[in-house]
Amino acid sequence: MDSGKLTLRRARLNPLFRKLTSEVDLSVDHFMQPLFCVEGLKVKEEIPGLAGVYRETADSILRQIESDLETGVKSFVIFGVPAQKSAQNFSYASTAKMISEIKKRFGSDLFLAVDVCLCSYTDHGHCGVLSTEGDHVDNGRSVTELAKAALEYAAAGADCVAPSDMMDGRIAAIRGALDQGGQEQKLLMSYSAKFHSKFYGPFRVAANSVPSKTNSLKDRATYQIDPARPSDALLASERDVREGADILMVKPGLPYLDVLAMLSAKIKLPWAVYEVSGEYAAIEELAKAGLINAAAAHVESWIALRRAGASILISYGARNAQKWIKEQR
Ligand code: PBG
Repeated sequence: MDSGKLTLRRARLNPLFRKLTSEVDLSVDHFMQPLFCVEGLKVKEEIPGLAGVYRETADSILRQIESDLETGVKSFVIFGVPAQKSAQNFSYASTAKMISEIKKRFGSDLFLAVDVCLCSYTDHGHCGVLSTEGDHVDNGRSVTELAKAALEYAAAGADCVAPSDMMDGRIAAIRGALDQGGQEQKLLMSYSAKFHSKFYGPFRVAANSVPSKTNSLKDRATYQIDPARPSDALLASERDVREGADILMVKPGLPYLDVLAMLSAKIKLPWAVYEVSGEYAAIEELAKAGLINAAAAHVESWIALRRAGASILISYGARNAQKWIKEQR
């Protein structure tokens, strides 16, 4: 054994040299913070599993954004949770009002994306409108609604609309609605490679969007991508480029790193990755059990997501990113 000969290890000995040769740039500039705004809520509620993340009231969300901006995070994706649920004829007014209040208060100090989906609005919790028979999610009717919602959010001042529903043709419909509605400068971020994942659990509690378990439609498998079909993610992402998306997304993050690496190598639009509620909470729970250092594990995960090709990291920890990166790197 030649124990005295250093080759690759020589470059690892000095911490400053390790920084000098880092191939992955991780900074708060790449982060987006998810926010939940719940209509009619009186007192903000911490979300189980997501320490430091809340279901916000109309007032608390403004204070939260103010303190987030101080941490250096400047981009947000907002989820509106309406008080009233229905089967159709949804009102997007409460979310639109929140958007305009945020923009009135903070203007161009922040970049505001808005999630576009129906799952918080429908009384059954699915991401679209059901057929008359109630046995499937009707693609055409859902797309019509989604385009309406997206235009309303953009008109209210959102910088970017982000459809997460997974209907076919929604990118073209939304792009068309924005262009015809005088919102042609607004960005369109497609959740193009969104998988049918079990890691969305804490989010569904936060957004009050657990799908109801009728026999024919017990989960989101008929519209979200099967975890065993990465080709479907490629087809959907290529299609969304043709339909006018400006930003594409892989979701969840860590369990789909291979998909992110494959897609970002093939398609040269900006890629976002969503470190979803369940994967974020998994780290938090390990830390609670004393088995891991949460901040260090989050930073390691974020490096992996950037390394695999994401420009934008959507993470519940965005508001801690600057601090944790500074501590850990
Ligand atoms: C809405 C939506 C979901 C997430 C983002 N937008 C949940 C779902 O599809 O069930 C998940 C985000 C997370 O888990 O953090 N369709």
